[in-house]
Amino acid sequence: MPPTGVYRRSGIHDPALFRGYEACRRATRATGEIEYAVSLLLPPPLRIATWALYGAVRAVDDLADAAGPPDRENRSTNESDPGRAERLEAWISAFDADLREGRGSDPVRQALIHTMLTWNLPPGFLHTLFEELRQDVHGRQFATWQEWRRYNSLINTPLVLRAGSLLMRAAGLSAEPEAIAASVPEAAVAWQTAVDAIYLTDALVDLSDDLGRGHVPLPQEALDEAGVHRADLLARHTTPAFEELVRRLAARARSWLDHSPLPPVLHPAVAVTLGTYTDLYRLRLKAAADAPAALLHRRPALPRNARLRLLLPARTKAALARGLFPFPIQPSPPPPPAPADAPEGHGRADEARARAVQQQATTSPPPHPSGARPPRLPPEAMPRHVAIVMDGNGRWATARGLPRTDGHRAGTEALIDVVHGALEIGLKHLTVYAFSTENWKRPADELQTLMYEIPQAMHRMVDETLDVRLRWAGVRSRLPADVIETLLQAERATRERTGLLLTMCVNYGGRAEITAAAAKLAQEAAAGRIDPSSVSEHAFARYLHVPELPDVDLLLRTGGDQRTSNFLPWQVTYAELLFLDTPWPAVDRRTLWEAIEQYARRTRRYGSVPRIPAQPTLLRGHGAPSP
Ligand code: IPE
Ligand code: IPE
Ligand code: MG
Repeated sequence: MPPTGVYRRSGIHDPALFRGYEACRRATRATGEIEYAVSLLLPPPLRIATWALYGAVRAVDDLADAAGPPDRENRSTNESDPGRAERLEAWISAFDADLREGRGSDPVRQALIHTMLTWNLPPGFLHTLFEELRQDVHGRQFATWQEWRRYNSLINTPLVLRAGSLLMRAAGLSAEPEAIAASVPEAAVAWQTAVDAIYLTDALVDLSDDLGRGHVPLPQEALDEAGVHRADLLARHTTPAFEELVRRLAARARSWLDHSPLPPVLHPAVAVTLGTYTDLYRLRLKAAADAPAALLHRRPALPRNARLRLLLPARTKAALARGLFPFPIQPSPPPPPAPADAPEGHGRADEARARAVQQQATTSPPPHPSGARPPRLPPEAMPRHVAIVMDGNGRWATARGLPRTDGHRAGTEALIDVVHGALEIGLKHLTVYAFSTENWKRPADELQTLMYEIPQAMHRMVDETLDVRLRWAGVRSRLPADVIETLLQAERATRERTGLLLTMCVNYGGRAEITAAAAKLAQEAAAGRIDPSSVSEHAFARYLHVPELPDVDLLLRTGGDQRTSNFLPWQVTYAELLFLDTPWPAVDRRTLWEAIEQYARRTRRYGSVPRIPAQPTLLRGHGAPSP
């Protein structure tokens, strides 16, 4: 029976999200006996977060194993199943893409991403964990204890610290993992020792599974010292030396657990949770040490009675502690994402019908006079969001002996052609810098032309009945009233169009956008409507001019200068940058297509190491010009 009350109290009402969390809960219950038992000591929102984190990791692990149990005769099954590595990579890239979009494309990822956004968890710790799974795919071997320990501190500790810090944060204790490590060195050592103890315990209890994958999870040094032969282990032959080794390692892990005291100033409910967790691990160690030979064949279960003797009082104590000192948990769940093909905020059926009618009324873009057609790119190679600094109008005109204002007129034509090209190639988001808050420094005739050209461009795009939804990002201050009216009117007239979301940045300044968002958040906090400690990046982005604008994938600047000039600082943090010498009026849709092709050839890493080979096959359309 799914614990529907727990989900209700955690604010989960969306059926798909519910299914995702349920899948994670079942995976946790089936594979993480201790983690599941401890999750039940936590208040509902943290309980489901534990399931999402633990369950999602198990799901990825299983996926890497989906080829089925290894063939006993063939010990190096992992090497002979390249499918494992591929499935894992596919899952990880889908996760990266989903996280950028703020929605999961399968139920488990949906729950995981919901948890990450709700608690503002940085993805770094998951990437270290994925790295561990990648290593597992190829079978991991340690020569010495030192290697084993270094691996733990690099790969496993960040995950455990992140989980610990989430727990403390929810309990109102400020404890970012980095802060723990920096400010209380003894605490960092204690955490590290506890993590070593947990992973050594797991190495013992998971031995049978690991052997099945042809993998011995203990350092060779430990085997040599004890006189245990790797081949015996892989053949699952027990020896007195092996049994003695298990007892010694269990004693070592127990002493590590005993020497990693809980940090002193803890919320009582956190203390009960962490205390129960380590007690259950002691129990697990005892179960392993009591029957060493059995470890070669199966994972030992926790003895039922001893387990209940621990858990029943822990549940009472945890509930009491939470009752007396309630967790000031204020997770900030992300807003439900809009369906992929609908304009944000208009999901109802009648609106969908209105949209369908509207869509029929839109026309396709006129072809380029040269007959050029867009390149055909694999969908995963396409950027979702292209942003352009349309620069170089003035210099283009001056070079032709024309007044700068003529450059702005020619710039409007370039914009319209690029929009046609964006529709043809199937781009979803295009954002253009038309006028910055700094551009008021320009001479009056130029300002006058720009304040005429920008509304003109808007009118033309509305009248062309292309499938383009127009948005305005910027501030009202100093803009003429009729320009504001045109911008708002264009937004209203095109709000049902779904093909391309074209955001016009007019009187836009990036720092001002971030500052205004911070000011609104501060007001909300001062009024007691939000808890400052719950402000996530996602929550912050809701206060930006166009909150639904996704991260920029490709930032293009024409005109030869290589700077961003206060354009979309929040959204471009991970954009690919492309600077072209061509002045904006000399640009047309083919420039956009070539830029997109260049983008498709780049490898984006997001701080990780390259996984997916670059150079996807680019299929060119008929008649496209050579780059
Ligand atoms: C971009 O062209 C248009 C606006 C800034 C409004 P510029 O007018 O900046 O042209 P250059 O950079 O002076 O050539
Ligand atoms: C950036 O161009 C603004 C727009 C294209 C609207 P600018 O020409 O104003 O930028 P700087 O002065 O070269 O940084
Ligand atoms: Mg300029």
